[in-house]
This record gives sequence, C-alpha cells and structure tokens, in this order.
Amino acid sequence: MINPVLTDMAVYPFTRLEHERRRLLDAGVEVIDFGKGDPNEPTDPIIRQALVDALPERAPYPLAQGLPELREAATGWVQRRFGVALDPETEIVPTYGSKEAIFSLAQVLGTGGRVVAFGEPAYPVYERGALFAGARVQTLPLLRENGFLADLEQLDDDVALVWVNYPHNPTGTVAPPAFYDELAAAAERHDFVVGSDEAYTELWFDEPPPSALQAADRSRFVVFQTLSKRSSMTGYRSGFVAGSPAIVAALKAYRPTVGTAPQEFVQRASVVAWDDERHVEETRARYRAKRDVMIPAIESRGWEIVASEATMYLWVAVPDAGDVVDVLLERGVLVSPGEFFGPSGAGYVRFALVPTLEECERAAEILGSLA
Ligand SMILES: Cc1ncc(COP(=O)(O)O)c(C=O)c1O
Repeated sequence: MINPVLTDMAVYPFTRLEHERRRLLDAGVEVIDFGKGDPNEPTDPIIRQALVDALPERAPYPLAQGLPELREAATGWVQRRFGVALDPETEIVPTYGSKEAIFSLAQVLGTGGRVVAFGEPAYPVYERGALFAGARVQTLPLLRENGFLADLEQLDDDVALVWVNYPHNPTGTVAPPAFYDELAAAAERHDFVVGSDEAYTELWFDEPPPSALQAADRSRFVVFQTLSKRSSMTGYRSGFVAGSPAIVAALKAYRPTVGTAPQEFVQRASVVAWDDERHVEETRARYRAKRDVMIPAIESRGWEIVASEATMYLWVAVPDAGDVVDVLLERGVLVSPGEFFGPSGAGYVRFALVPTLEECERAAEILGSLA
C-alpha cells in the first residue's frame, strides 16, 4: 500500500554519510564533518531572544498567509537587498523553511504528465517533488564548460516547470543577471514556470549575487528564500515564496490543507532576522575565515577548486573522487562525493564548510599530512 514513488526512491544519499559518521565515532575516531550542509553557526542572540519573547501562553494555528509583520519585513528586505518592490498582500507567502514549498510546487502547478526540468548535480528535492506530482523529469547536465549553467536550448517541448538554483548547491556557481532574462524569454516562448531556489544568495564573498526577482520580466518566476543559511536558522523552519500573484494565491489556497505555516513565534523571530544585516555580515566573515584555511590546504594537494564563488560549499575536482573520499574518511574527514548530487558530479567532491574554524584548521593539517 506504499506509494511506489517512495519505495522506488534511492536512499537519501546523506543517510549513507551519516552511517559512516557513526561507524567512525564508534571506532573512537574524531570526525570532522564536511558532509551535510547544516550550519553549525550559532543563531544570533537577538533572534533567539525574539523567539523567547514571542512565545505565547497559547499558540493558535498559524494562518497560511502569515503575519502581516513578517510579510512586511520580508518584502522590505527584498527591496533593500535586490531593489525590487513586492506587494506584501499578493506577492509573498511565508513557508516552513523552503524545502517543503520546493517539494510541493510541482503539485500546486498541476505538472502531472508534463515535464519538470532541472540541472544536475542538484539538491534532490526538485526531482522528488516532480515524481510525487506525477510529472516526468528532465535533467540538464551542469558542466564546467558551460559555467555550470543549464543549456535552455535542450528543454523538452512539454516542459511545465524549470528549477534553477543560484548560487548553486553543490558547485557554488553564481548566475549572471543576464541568465535570468534569458530564462524569462524561454519561459515566455515555451510557456513554463520558473522556480528559483535562492537559499544561498546571502553567503557570498565577493559581489552580492543577483535574484531572479530582478529580471525585467518576472511574471513566470517564483522565488524561494529561506533564513536557514542566511541566519543559521535551519531548525526554526522559516522562509518565503515570492513572485507571480497567481501562483502565490494558489499557494495560499493549497497550504492550509498541508498545514505548513511556520509557528507565529518563529515568524516573529524571523521579522528580527530579516530586519538585521549585522549578523549576516558576521556569518559571512566566519565562512570567509574557513575558506581562507581550507582553500590553500585543498590546493596544496594539487586538487582544483572549481566555481565555489558563493554558498558554504567548495566544489573540488579531484583525480579519483572515490579514493579521495575513502582516504579522507579513514582520517575522520567526511566529504560528499560529487555523484551524490547527480552523474555530472563525477570527478568532484564537495566540502560543506560547516565545521568550526578550529576543526577546519585540524582538517587542513590532516590534508597536509596525507601521503
Ligand atoms: C539548494 C537548497 N535549497 C533549499 C534548501 C532547503 O533549505 P530549508 O528548507 O532549510 O530552507 C537547501 C538545504 O540544504 C538547499 O541546499
């Protein structure tokens, strides 16, 4: 009686990494985990305090449209960060982190029997959402020679939804603003919706990356933002979807059925998070310090760091990725094989810079001591 989409699904790759982590810990090995992208950064005290202050005696069901204060704070942030004015009434809806909303978009749009396309290597949720919605999947290889940008010429004629994710997990690629205009033109030509997963726009080290919201024509775009990485709030579950009023209205109709509105005390803490940039600058500085330790250590092995302009990830081309993963594993350093994210990830490993700076320094020493 179980849905075959579920039974046919491969084990979530990170479950395997977790298994290895436990095995090493049981064997008494000190593990430095660059595997999963869950930030170990502290959530800023002003955000934690706002959560505590907002905890009511009784917490009623949160409404799908979210608190007006949160919609105002999020649209205010979009205006300051991207220079785009959104209507807080019609163009935004808060989400329970971004994963659940990414997962359900294919269902909300009614893509069943049509094609959902996305680049690979990729975050696995675009595919899973498409399969549960009964859509067909088209993967577009993201290759170094194309700057890890999808070739839009390859899109299937029956495409209903295209996912993009820049800054990109796992490669750390930033898309140029022109890419979003090309995407808007293709969406207009072929009549598809674009889901832009922007979980990593705030983890940058050079120039702030653009948003799909800045495209001249954003009428077919839906953008997914989250506090998980920007404000190290993965466990709070708080994000938003912004874009086309028709799709936002559909989400407001769909979401009460699923019950995925963030708790109001989390929404109030989120207002404080969107209103503050100091803690985000501090977060970027911490990731920058880790990059400054890890990049030379990785390069000193003769391995090449590719893309990796933004995000918390380093995408590393290595001569024999399988061996490198195993050698590092035996020394307690966990990294993800690039193939976890799709076949075009072969030949790469991904370092998620989530361990502490001290752990990164120890990992750098381990890299330096490898034969
Ligand atoms: C590319 C990408 N999108 C979305 C998410 C979802 O994050 P959350 O549901 O915490 O907002 C993640 C989390 O790792 C991610 O890597």
